[in-house]
Amino acid sequence: MSRPIFVAIDTPDLARAKAIAQRVRNHVGGLKLGLEFFCANGHAGVREMAAIGLPIFLDLKLHDIPNTVAKAVQSLGPLKPAILTIHASGGRAMMEDAKAAAPIGTKVVAVTVLTSLDGSDLTSVGLPDDPHAQVVRLTALAREAGIDGIVCSGNEVAAARKAWPGGYFVVPGVRPAGGDVGDQKRVMTPRAALDAGASILVIGRPITAAADPDAAARAIEATL
Ligand code: C5P
Repeated sequence: MSRPIFVAIDTPDLARAKAIAQRVRNHVGGLKLGLEFFCANGHAGVREMAAIGLPIFLDLKLHDIPNTVAKAVQSLGPLKPAILTIHASGGRAMMEDAKAAAPIGTKVVAVTVLTSLDGSDLTSVGLPDDPHAQVVRLTALAREAGIDGIVCSGNEVAAARKAWPGGYFVVPGVRPAGGDVGDQKRVMTPRAALDAGASILVIGRPITAAADPDAAARAIEATL
């Protein structure tokens, strides 16, 4: 991908989302819209964002029985998202059916373990107390299911790329050198994440919360 930065537009406010996207459009490769945006603005909102002319990453993290997820992916098909997320913990059949239901050009990418969960959270839902082992296990399952890749942290991407050379790796939580890390705990610079094997980088607040989002996006792009 020529421009590897997808800017995370985390707002339910369509006018604000459009304003940010317009300002950064020449320095990013795509727009990531999540549940917050989608629940507020639906397909019509996504279409308005797509009209800005950049690829759309729909970060909806789908997780349900295979039939329901496949039907949901089909319903999203007309939006032709460049990237769509599902939960790997929905299981192999769910991932296979999601991929089969997706438009040809859509990359289906799985979330393994949410970074908001630690070892004790995993045991509380009956899983072994080791997030890393669970990430490795679900990454292998995602690969076997034939989806395109996974979402992973900058710290995990080198190992993931080694284990899955043809995988598509979406890396959030990257921060420009010297930048404010916010609530992201384990951060890496954009350049380091790409060198470690990231396919695309998801960057939100370092761009969207900057006084000048266009300058912020341009400055990050210049480091790549
Ligand atoms: O503002 P910031 O750069 O932290 O935004 C990162 C984006 O990536 C947000 O949309 C967030 O939901 C998403 N994300 C993340 N960490 C993960 C998975 C997704 O920050 N492990």
